[in-house]
Amino acid sequence: MRLAGVARIVGLSLVAGSWTSAAEDIAAVLESSFMAKNQATMARLQQDAVQEVCSAPRGTPVEETVLSELRQQRLDAVVLPADGVFLGDWQRGAEVAGNGRGLQSSDDPTKPNGGNCYACHQLAPDEVAYGNLGPSLTGYGARGQSEPMLRYTWTKLWDTHAYNLCSHMPRFGAQGILSEQQLRDVMAYLLDPASPVNQTKQ
Ligand code: HEC
Repeated sequence: MRLAGVARIVGLSLVAGSWTSAAEDIAAVLESSFMAKNQATMARLQQDAVQEVCSAPRGTPVEETVLSELRQQRLDAVVLPADGVFLGDWQRGAEVAGNGRGLQSSDDPTKPNGGNCYACHQLAPDEVAYGNLGPSLTGYGARGQSEPMLRYTWTKLWDTHAYNLCSHMPRFGAQGILSEQQLRDVMAYLLDPASPVNQTKQ
């Protein structure tokens, strides 16, 4: 189980094996408490290299070079839109942002996934229900549509780990949660001056 990898990465196996065995115990408990159901398979317990590092216990020393290498790997893996078109249709983007379905055992895998942006962000100012784990994105379009801005926003949505290694935001492109077209539409929802995100509250 990959949690044991945390101990290897941070070199704690030297500490009398105590953390290694704790990590193995935790992995065994997790493995026995989860079950595979429909599209929610046991693969969700497999941590990738970033998750291993980011879920190391607080205070665990992690080499800065390990972090910057991982960040660079994530940045290098970002796929920009093939045709150079970053912006789609904000109306379809609004649906993606407000849709919290997808990838759970109870969801229909033949339907497109949502982005669930409102779970963590304020976007359109007249929407009353939103989470605040992430910053408010109301008025995001004021940043304009320069090439660096388009690339920044696309990259953030494609793989948030490329900028903030231990970010809590889903990796919409890298994990195949949203399609390229859905990403374009969400980009327009954020950046189009006509989008509700960029209107002031009535
Ligand atoms: C589980 C929570 C969560 C979800 C869901 C989520 N985000 Fe985020 N997002 C965050 C957090 C936390 C940050 C700030 C910290 C960071 O950079 O990771 C953030 C940062 C951002 C930023 C950068 C903000 C800035 O000021 O530059 C953008 C843009 C963004 N999110 C867009 C979206 C969009 C669009 C969606 C839906 C497709 C979405 N997020 C879904 C948690 C989330």
